[in-house]
Amino acid sequence: DFQPRVFSGVQPSGNLHLGNYLGAIVNFVALQESHDCIYCVVDMHAITVWQDPRELSRQIREVTAAFVASGIDPVKHIVFNQSQVSVHAELAWVFNCVARIGWMNRMTQFKDKAGKDKENASLGLLAYPSLMAADILAYKATHVPVGEDQKQHLELTRDIAQKFNNDFSESIAAHGFGDAYFPITEPLITGPATRIMSLRDGTKKMSKSDPSDYSRINLTDDADAIAQKIRKAKTDADALPSEVDGLKGRPEADNLVGIYAALAGTTKQQVLDTFGGRQFSEFKPALGELAVSRLGPIGEEMRRLMQDPGHIDAILAAGAARAEAIARPVMDGVKDVVGF
Ligand code: ADP
Ligand code: NA
Repeated sequence: DFQPRVFSGVQPSGNLHLGNYLGAIVNFVALQESHDCIYCVVDMHAITVWQDPRELSRQIREVTAAFVASGIDPVKHIVFNQSQVSVHAELAWVFNCVARIGWMNRMTQFKDKAGKDKENASLGLLAYPSLMAADILAYKATHVPVGEDQKQHLELTRDIAQKFNNDFSESIAAHGFGDAYFPITEPLITGPATRIMSLRDGTKKMSKSDPSDYSRINLTDDADAIAQKIRKAKTDADALPSEVDGLKGRPEADNLVGIYAALAGTTKQQVLDTFGGRQFSEFKPALGELAVSRLGPIGEEMRRLMQDPGHIDAILAAGAARAEAIARPVMDGVKDVVGF
């Protein structure tokens, strides 16, 4: 009987893009109606790969600005950055001692991000899912909205919670915490578009770390940049099909139709009802216009907020104090349970 609570995070590790927006932030906004929500700028995750310190400070503020500009309410809910609440690091250490090395070695994101030279990846990159479990469980969060790429990490959070509950079951009961200290968190992979692909390669996910700026639409892109990137997006030469089945084997077309549907709040079939049989030369300008109308105001509000860093820092400081007030007693309980 854990009270419902939502936690999720976004890394301040580069350009926030359309994938982050449709795969994560749109859901963060919607969940505010029904849940208590905690949204975290996960700066400690960002440094698992090298970050320029000055850039990092700016990016922390930019993700915060994106949250607020997209409609997250930092007064009703909690918005903060991870490094300001030390429970995340403390609990991650305990989880490093609960999780198994083999579990970490199986993570596909580690394999992707570490590349060929795995011995030279940071130890933090390998242990990343353990910190992510700490982020979530420090608040005993029951629901985590994420994109599809985070599914495997979420399963690991569940495994860690389960193993902690089992390994310490006697101590948990003896300290009056019943039969489970941590909830088994549910992933919410439900948004309008759980997997947005690169505009340059329909088989790769749109990502902050893609070296090509034309691969993604950044939330800070202005109207011209958005329109141009969509115009230059890779496509095949055929007209759009009139049925969703016709998108099979056409990853770029499928991706663009999916983006249109997500931005318009309709289905791919409804998009094809309008655009089936038409060429990309007609579809792309329509998609560009739609993207500009949805993202333009958010980018503008982000730029406005970024002009007052002190205001953003105040939002983060207030959020950190409220997050700490929830997480600290959870960590105190962990210490008792572990025997510290
Ligand atoms: P990135 O993968 O670009 O570095 P993060 O790891 O900070 O971004 O992810 C932030 C959130 O955005 C996560 O919930 C993640 O699942 C979601 N997300 C990231 N890329 C995509 C994408 N291409 N499509 C849908 N959701 C995505
Ligand atoms: Na990710």
